[in-house]
Amino acid sequence: MKTLVVDDEIEISELIKLILEIDVAGSETIIANDGDEAIEILKKINDIDLVICDYSMPKVKGSEVLQFITEHEIQSKFVLCSSYDINSLKDIDHDSIFFFIKKPEITDGMEKLLAILKPNYSMKKTEGHVPISIKLLKAIGVCPGDIYIQINEEKFIKIYNAEEIFSTEEVQKYQKKDRAYLHIDSEDSQKVLSLLTTQINLLFTESKKDLSGEALDLNSFIFSAAKEIGINQEVIELSKPAMKFAINIIKKNTPLKDALLRLFKKDSDFVPQHSLVLAMVSCAIASEMKWNSELTMCKLSLAGLIHDLELENAQIKEYEMSEVSEFSEKFKYHPTKLASLLTTIKDIPPDIDRIIAEHHEKPDGSGFPFGKKHLQISALSSLFIIAHELSNIICEKMAKKEKLTQKSVLEKLNKELYNKGNFKKVLKALNETSFL
Ligand SMILES: [Fe+2]
Ligand SMILES: [Fe+2]
Repeated sequence: MKTLVVDDEIEISELIKLILEIDVAGSETIIANDGDEAIEILKKINDIDLVICDYSMPKVKGSEVLQFITEHEIQSKFVLCSSYDINSLKDIDHDSIFFFIKKPEITDGMEKLLAILKPNYSMKKTEGHVPISIKLLKAIGVCPGDIYIQINEEKFIKIYNAEEIFSTEEVQKYQKKDRAYLHIDSEDSQKVLSLLTTQINLLFTESKKDLSGEALDLNSFIFSAAKEIGINQEVIELSKPAMKFAINIIKKNTPLKDALLRLFKKDSDFVPQHSLVLAMVSCAIASEMKWNSELTMCKLSLAGLIHDLELENAQIKEYEMSEVSEFSEKFKYHPTKLASLLTTIKDIPPDIDRIIAEHHEKPDGSGFPFGKKHLQISALSSLFIIAHELSNIICEKMAKKEKLTQKSVLEKLNKELYNKGNFKKVLKALNETSFL
């Protein structure tokens, strides 16, 4: 089956291509980034079976692509893919539309479309390795399956283990070599697909919606508070998209939103500062480490903002900063309590629960609630744990009205403790990061 996918959001086209590669034997997919590009392809290639096309694109719209197909009596089936309600689209010939996919439910829509097409095409699952676009990997930052590079027709070499962070530096390295695709194991394809679906839906639909109401207030509150604390403008700017996105997710989940607003509105200065500094410093370090896929930055921002939601302000003030050895059960389990709540909330990107569950662990096993050692703590959690300590140092200095400089903050960080594994990499990046 030869398919032309037309969308100005490349990750959406790549997701559709991946679904076709996984489900349709011998699938061939051509991608066009706009309607004009699609028309040029349709002029040259005359055996395209299927055109899956977005409605609103910057230059030439989906309705014009369909018009071209009808006028030139091209036999391709036309599938419209849009976030608009199909009935609201007046400038398109509805009778010529073979199928409609409502964004963001791309995977669902594709499943229904392929069920209709089943009698005409071979739908047997692809075996071996499936190509996955580097742009998709970059957008999600972490892949739930191992990643391979193709050496020749038969040979594939594993270059990443499942769950490893795919840095933007690596992306650039492959792009320089003109390599647009890496591969996953077909056995992992459903796992990868379901993760991609959730994450792409989040990234490419929600983040583009306008923020309004309370979320907007929270937004401006956060950025002005960050300025007051003394977070440097560069870090504020670099974390802005991720923070806005995180606030959007919070806004959609009433229990999270209520808890956050309650925490942020109370008299304590410490709570918003602690969460805010943590979110932004995490983003700054991630950016220095080139772990800055949109989704990774979003995970860190969201985790930073909500990580102590299970606590009362007084508890946060009393325990979070200081190295107390005795505390209540409630305090001991606040990371896991929130983590398990998060797994029940739709739209929360995966792994946030792990970052939150591990935020009080220490590389030498002296942390809580699990007492994990550095090898058992995830790479993103390691970054978050160090940013958490930095946030505490900053907030403590602010409370004591001490002069706040990055040098004085870093001097107080227990570097000996963190000189292991992933933590060591974070420390190294920290020397190059400027956040105050
Ligand atoms: Fe905590
Ligand atoms: Fe905390």
